[in-house]
Order: sequence, then C-alpha cells, then structure tokens
Amino acid sequence: DSGEASLEGFDHYMLKEIYEQPESIRNAMRGRLDDENATAVFGGLNLTPQQLRSVERIILTGCGTSWHSALVGEYMIEDLARIPVSVEYASELRYRNPPIDNNTLIFGITQSGETADTLAALKETKRKGHRTLAICNVVGSSIAQAADGGVYLHAGPEIGVASTKAYTSQCCVLAMLSLYFGRLRHVSFESGQRIINELRQLPAAVQQALACDEQVRDVAKKYQDASTVLYLGRQYNFPTALEGALKLKEISYIHAEGYPAAEMKHGPIALVDEHTPSVFIIPRGTTYDKVMANMEEVKARGGPVIALASRDNPEVESIADDVIHVPEVPGFTQPIVNVVPLQLLSYHIALLRGCDVDKPRNLAKSVTVE
Ligand code: G6P
Repeated sequence: DSGEASLEGFDHYMLKEIYEQPESIRNAMRGRLDDENATAVFGGLNLTPQQLRSVERIILTGCGTSWHSALVGEYMIEDLARIPVSVEYASELRYRNPPIDNNTLIFGITQSGETADTLAALKETKRKGHRTLAICNVVGSSIAQAADGGVYLHAGPEIGVASTKAYTSQCCVLAMLSLYFGRLRHVSFESGQRIINELRQLPAAVQQALACDEQVRDVAKKYQDASTVLYLGRQYNFPTALEGALKLKEISYIHAEGYPAAEMKHGPIALVDEHTPSVFIIPRGTTYDKVMANMEEVKARGGPVIALASRDNPEVESIADDVIHVPEVPGFTQPIVNVVPLQLLSYHIALLRGCDVDKPRNLAKSVTVE
C-alpha cells in the first residue's frame, strides 16, 4: 500500500520521512518565495484582491498532528501578519457551531485530505457562506476538492502513520502564508526580505538538527522504560511540546503530556518524580529565564531533565541530565527545526520497546469516520 514510495535503505518509513524533511521543506517553498516583492506567492488561493484585503480573522482547523500545525500557524499569523486567529479541532468546529463573522477565512489543514471530521467542518462552514481553503498534501483528495482553494504541501507520499514531514511542511506553508498576509498589510519590504532569508535557511537548519540522531538514540536508551514523559516549551515551542508528546504516545505507547512550561506549576509538576523525565525545549529568547526556572524546579524535585538547547549553553548543561543540541534559529522557524529531535526520540524509544513504528496499534493513517 506504499504507492510510489519505497524504503530506500531506511528501516522504516517514519525514519525515511524524518530524514526527507530538508527536501520536503524545500519542495513546500519551491516557486513560492518572491524576492522581487519580498513576499510569498500561491497559485491556488482563489481569492480576489478585495477578498484578500478584507480578511479580518482566520480560523485554522484540523485533527491530530495537523491540529498542532494549526497552533503553530496561530502563533505565526498573529505574530507576522497581525490577523486574529482561532484554532479549532475540526470535530468540535462542526458541532460547537461558533459564531463566525464575515471576512473570516477558514483553513482546513490535513495531510491526507480525507479526514472525515475536517471534511465535515469545512463543508459546514462553506455551507454558511464562508471562504474555505485547504492546506493539504494529497492532490485531488476530498478536502482539496471540497475547498474553494488552497495550498498543496508537495511533501510526497507519507506512509508512516505518525505524521512527520507533512507536519513540518504544513508549518512551512503557514509561515509563507503569514508572510503573504503580512505583506498585504503592515510588513515592510525589508522585513519581508528578512523573513524570506530566514525561510531559506530552514532546509540547512533541519539538516543540522538531524545530526543529533545518534545523541538522541543514547537518550532514548536511558529513558525507554519511562511510563510518563512531560514535554514543556513556551511561545513557538509550546505546540512543539504537544507534538513531541503526541509522537511518543502514538508509536511507543508511553503516556506523555505537552504543556506550556509555565503551566507546569498548576498541575503536571505533581507527576514529577525520579521516574518521570521532562523534555524542555529551551532556546535562547524572551522566556528563556522563566523556562530555566521551571527546569530547575523539576530538577529540585528529582525529575530527570532532557533539554533541547543550542550548543554552548553551559547554564543548560549544568542543570539538564541530557542536552540535545539544536541549531539556533529565529522564533517563527523554531517549530520546524525543534520538532525534528522529538520525532527521532519517539522513533528510537518505540524501536527499543519493540513497537511497530510505521503501523502503531489502534491508529490509522487517515480516519475517514467521524
Ligand atoms: C490520524 C493520523 C494522524 C493525523 C490525523 C489527521 O489520526 O494517525 O497522524 O495527524 O489523522 O490526519 P490528516 O490527514 O487530516 O492530517
């Protein structure tokens, strides 16, 4: 059932797809960065200039990993384009029936384009007269057809049930949409150029992040018997914490929770003991000191700490039991780079536990029932 994809020497599709990410990200950006106008270009949004100018709100909806990229998109679009964004689980959007103002754009985010909840949510909002667009990998899929327009990921077939390359491509498309909408509004030519340059650095940064594979394997060996793992990060790294936890649950069957690091003190810290590792995503930036303090709190309670941090950070090294090095990149591109070691961590832990990484129990690649 692997279609045109083959393992090409990798042990599993998931690993192959993790390693394809520098290329799949490049493919998501191909032909879409417009240097002359310092913006992004999309062939299939099917929106008139008038409709584009009048967007006042964006709703991003999806399920599973695609819902996590929606959360990343919320941070990006609000940060770069200053358009208010709401993120909705597709299954809730349909039945919750929230009031939706005019001039709201709805994006359904989906790898397969066949997820029943996402399709139903888009059809329902479209029926109400709103513009619905798809951010989708599979060309000609049901959701791609049902939407008024959209953006394809061009990530190639994703076979592993746990989504990896489709996720980073979704984040990349959302970053380009943020640039696009930002440039229609207040983002200057110079800022647009800077964003383009930062996007162009992404394939190399992801390639660099992949270099942590062996180090991650050692970390996996140490923690393979954990029964709960906490994932903590703030701002752009909060959705990454959720996605890291989901990856671990999906393929290793270890209970994991992602939280904004600062929320830890309102509950999850009660779980911390010497058998419960916490993964902190802690790049340098505005909340660095705060996350550092959270990390120290976990340490003081005897919890093992795994930190994702940039190289040459003695402060992190002195507290964390294990440090996985990630390249230092600007905030909005961090989700795309920092998720890579977490994908690898779940892969190696699942493998060590003898799990079927490409076909985890009880899960399906695309869920076509509500
Ligand atoms: C299933 C898959 C997940 C995926 C979710 C949404 O649960 O196992 O990996 O994230 O569906 O799928 P979609 O194709 O809509 O992105």
